[in-house]
Amino acid sequence: MGIVSAFGVREMKEIPVEIDTGTAYEISEPIWDTELVDVEKGTPTGEMLRRYWHPFALTADATDTPREVTILGEQLILFRDGLDRVGLLHPRCCHRGTSLYYGKVETEGIRCCYHGWLFDVEGKTLDMPCEPQSGARADRYRQPWYPVREYHDMLFTYMGPPAHKPAFPIYDIFDDVPDGWEIVADDNNIGLEGDPTPCNWFQTHENVMDPLHVYVLHAGFSGNQFVAEMAGLPELSFHRTPQGVKSHQDRTLDDGRFFHRVTEAVMPNVRIVASPFVEFEGKATSVAWTLPISRTETKIFTILKRPIGQERRRALYNGQIWPDLSEEEHQRYPGDYEAQVGQGAITIHSEENLASSDRGVSIFRHVFRQQVRAVNNGELPVGVTNGVECRYEVRAGNYIGKRDDVIHLG
Ligand code: FES
Ligand SMILES: [Fe+2]
Repeated sequence: MGIVSAFGVREMKEIPVEIDTGTAYEISEPIWDTELVDVEKGTPTGEMLRRYWHPFALTADATDTPREVTILGEQLILFRDGLDRVGLLHPRCCHRGTSLYYGKVETEGIRCCYHGWLFDVEGKTLDMPCEPQSGARADRYRQPWYPVREYHDMLFTYMGPPAHKPAFPIYDIFDDVPDGWEIVADDNNIGLEGDPTPCNWFQTHENVMDPLHVYVLHAGFSGNQFVAEMAGLPELSFHRTPQGVKSHQDRTLDDGRFFHRVTEAVMPNVRIVASPFVEFEGKATSVAWTLPISRTETKIFTILKRPIGQERRRALYNGQIWPDLSEEEHQRYPGDYEAQVGQGAITIHSEENLASSDRGVSIFRHVFRQQVRAVNNGELPVGVTNGVECRYEVRAGNYIGKRDDVIHLG
């Protein structure tokens, strides 16, 4: 076809039209992987998570003032009665549903403000003041409750089927406390001080099997947030353990010594990571749990061993600590909080492109899925045993020395 003009017919040149590719218009519907992110009761993953003990508060948080806590998407009321027993009860009173948040803690339990029913820490009804003989038939009514266990100033609960309540896990690194050291419980989070991190727990937790982000995020992009020993690109390998996955990160230091660093993820949400400030050599000195508060809120609880009174060492962002950064400095010097919350309230798995450097994350997800499927097939997930306690031997640590001496540690 040509163009007809006053000058006659001119040939029209065909200009090849370049069609844009890879535009955001082509993104398919965002989907997250429910097998990784669900936490609610009745979901396959929520049921698997409920087969383990979870920390949810510090011992000091349980007082005679009822406190609302949320664990795995369930709201509960925490209190400590006059006999020093900790209660964790369903909030809606089993009489007519008023919240026990407004209850009064007494010697033997918590009394509902509305009609005065009194419940002990196991939800047993002890008193019904408006009923004949103050509730002679009180044993017919039970306020739903969960068992609580205190371990090194931290409160743990088991929220799964009672018949499957597992042995309580303890960790060998807390067996011995050297003279001048102490064990402390800490609920400081990534970034925010004590407040929940506003994203799904899984994207926070799988970070523990992502050692290469240390090389970029913590040692380069935002300056060196830890110490020189952590800054080099490590040689990596990943290994299954009886209860999860561990990574080996190996580096030769400037002074010629060999740095063998081992990090562990214990199913389903325990992380054992030696200090990134390499303050102590040998086994890690802390165990941390990533608690799903709800589907979009996460909190990290840590039990650690340290010299008495030693201040928590904190990552530096251009010489400042995280809470002191301006918004622009958060952009210029991001850390774990920015990277993980930056993935969204729940990361979108359908938009990911896992690469070879994500091998640890892939292995972790695989082992995690195995536990979900085991529980839903009627089997026990790893680490769940009967009995009173189960003792875990920590492998994680910072092992520094001659290569041949340290490579087999952990
Ligand atoms: S609603 Fe709690 S005692 Fe009535
Ligand atoms: Fe990190």
